[in-house]
Amino acid sequence: NKLLSIGVLGASMIAGVANAEVRDIRIGVDVPYEPMEYRTADGELTGFDIELGNAMCEEIGIECEWVVQGWDGIIPGLMARKYDAIMSSMTINDKRREQVLFSDPYFTPPSAWFAPADSEITTPDETTLEDMSIGVQRGTLQDNYVTDMYGDVADVNRYATADDMVLDMDSGRLDIVFLDFPVGKSTLLDSEAGDYKTVGEQITEPKQYFGDGFGIAFRKRDEALAEAFNEALATLKENGTYAEIEAKYFNE
Ligand code: ARG
Repeated sequence: NKLLSIGVLGASMIAGVANAEVRDIRIGVDVPYEPMEYRTADGELTGFDIELGNAMCEEIGIECEWVVQGWDGIIPGLMARKYDAIMSSMTINDKRREQVLFSDPYFTPPSAWFAPADSEITTPDETTLEDMSIGVQRGTLQDNYVTDMYGDVADVNRYATADDMVLDMDSGRLDIVFLDFPVGKSTLLDSEAGDYKTVGEQITEPKQYFGDGFGIAFRKRDEALAEAFNEALATLKENGTYAEIEAKYFNE
């Protein structure tokens, strides 16, 4: 028993030395983006990213403070040191890799189209989307994709926040929106405010837009920090914590 506890102590001391560079951090996040990051009725931050992020920080042994930041300025805020990481359902793609260092992917959902239940659009394409009002969150990969593919034929409406977009959908000002699937499911399919359906296939290609899953973004020189989060993610996957948080937010 004594030997065992010395072994454990030794291991944590080694981890402590390896993580000497890793100190308490602040994490930037754009809310609401339900069920990934949003506020409870009491104003407390919650969601899959928040709980997973907090569990990772606990695993690393650091304090993490969340800083709410609009999506538009979320990478500039990282560069300006308003916070040290971004955990905000940010998809890893080559364009963003030029600016930031990503952790390993921690979640890999598809994108999808959502429309009112009585919509006649069955397959979104250049013909069916002609003159349609499409909603996207400004600066997301969904904005980039829709703008490049349908910007010439459709009316693309860009919203600062996902909930502004959902409000316009609920009041009938949009024909269709394009979103990370779990967010459309939670804010439209599962909402009481309106009757919605998904339209067409879930979309994961081309990679140039849809990338490689959600990652935590760091400044490029913060390699030790990124490595600490990668290790924490692997541990939480192994010990069942990841599965617990996942079941809580994505259980059908
Ligand atoms: N996954 C999409 C992207 O990276 C949208 C993420 C938006 N996140 C948010 N918290 N509003 O472009």
